[in-house]
Amino acid sequence: MFETLKDQPEDKIMALMALFAQDQRDKKIDLGVGVYKNDQGITPIMKAVSRAISFLNMKQKSKSYVGLLGNMSFIDQIIRLVLEDAVPRDRIVGGQAPGGTGALHQLLLLIRSVKLKPRVWISSPSWPNHEAILDHLGIRCLKYSYFDTETCEVDFEHMMSDLVSVKSGDVILLHGCCHNPTGANLSYENWVDLTKFCLQKNVLPLVDLAYQGFGDGIEEDVAGLRHMATNLPEICVAVSGSKNFGLYRERVGAAIAVVSDKKGHKIVEDNLKSFNRLTFSFPPDFGASVVDLVLSECDTDDTPLVKLWRTELTEMRSRMLDLRLSLADSLRRSTNSSRFDFVSKHRGMFSLLGLSPDEVLRLRKEHGIYMVGDSRINLAGLNNTQLDDFSMAIAAVI
Ligand code: LMR
Repeated sequence: MFETLKDQPEDKIMALMALFAQDQRDKKIDLGVGVYKNDQGITPIMKAVSRAISFLNMKQKSKSYVGLLGNMSFIDQIIRLVLEDAVPRDRIVGGQAPGGTGALHQLLLLIRSVKLKPRVWISSPSWPNHEAILDHLGIRCLKYSYFDTETCEVDFEHMMSDLVSVKSGDVILLHGCCHNPTGANLSYENWVDLTKFCLQKNVLPLVDLAYQGFGDGIEEDVAGLRHMATNLPEICVAVSGSKNFGLYRERVGAAIAVVSDKKGHKIVEDNLKSFNRLTFSFPPDFGASVVDLVLSECDTDDTPLVKLWRTELTEMRSRMLDLRLSLADSLRRSTNSSRFDFVSKHRGMFSLLGLSPDEVLRLRKEHGIYMVGDSRINLAGLNNTQLDDFSMAIAAVI
């Protein structure tokens, strides 16, 4: 009976991971999947996280079910981390979901269920899974321009001119910070303009927040989002703890919905609970409880874990910012041009280099350098000793 199944399109990031694993060359470089790596090429377990894990293992006495929305103390901590006091707590509904993708999925189930049958606008380009999930859920996906391939910055004018076609009740999917795949971020002023736009057009923003702390700082990365949350009646945020807590495989995520009143609160909460029950029943607890311990200022060894976590996150961010400067410099030397200077202005792990598919393929075949086919690189996959080889390889293929 299964022979009647349709073939599924391959996820290009996952396919690249498999290709890299098969490559036998010693000097291969993985700039594909969005996983942070340190100078030694390792994705470390953060010290604060490690201590919280030991503490949790000692303290936790049962593995019985928690609740359909998961660990509510974790939810409170995440809401504080993301929104601080941008919105009164009684207007916020939150529930755990398996990772940022799970949170996005559950929020889209909510969106799909409203009477108006909203269409969802995503940036072009966007994380490939955005469109794939929307298609999978049968939600109409539309695209707005985002990236200026000449300047390699956000083309806000073009974005807004495309968004003129939104209908009341549509949803705009935004990247909270560290845009994936381009690395080009909306400015604070852009967020202010978008807020006015959403209000005027009665549009719901759905913000995918997977990289808080990886761009300019924990607070800086969500300044635009907080402005939006304060000034709009409703907004949804899909939060991931994969990157900023390094808990990729534990699937730490939170679906947050800001609602306008008490009635909205109850109905949204009941729906989120029900969607969790129908999709996976109970969200995974372990990673979320670890994050809860880190953020609740638990003190295991004189240093509050949250302080340690902030320091470690700052180190990771600084490494990426330094790498950006060094890479731009190295590319300037190898190509004898300013073509790639934009790399130093981008934020987060990714930059879209603007190479052709053929150039990307040559980099992989001839130099063992793996990047996504649209020429997105994960900068954190590089270290200082590889920069010149990498830049020279780029110069050789362009
Ligand atoms: C990425 O974009 O590489 C990450 O978000 C990992 C993923 O799931 O695609």
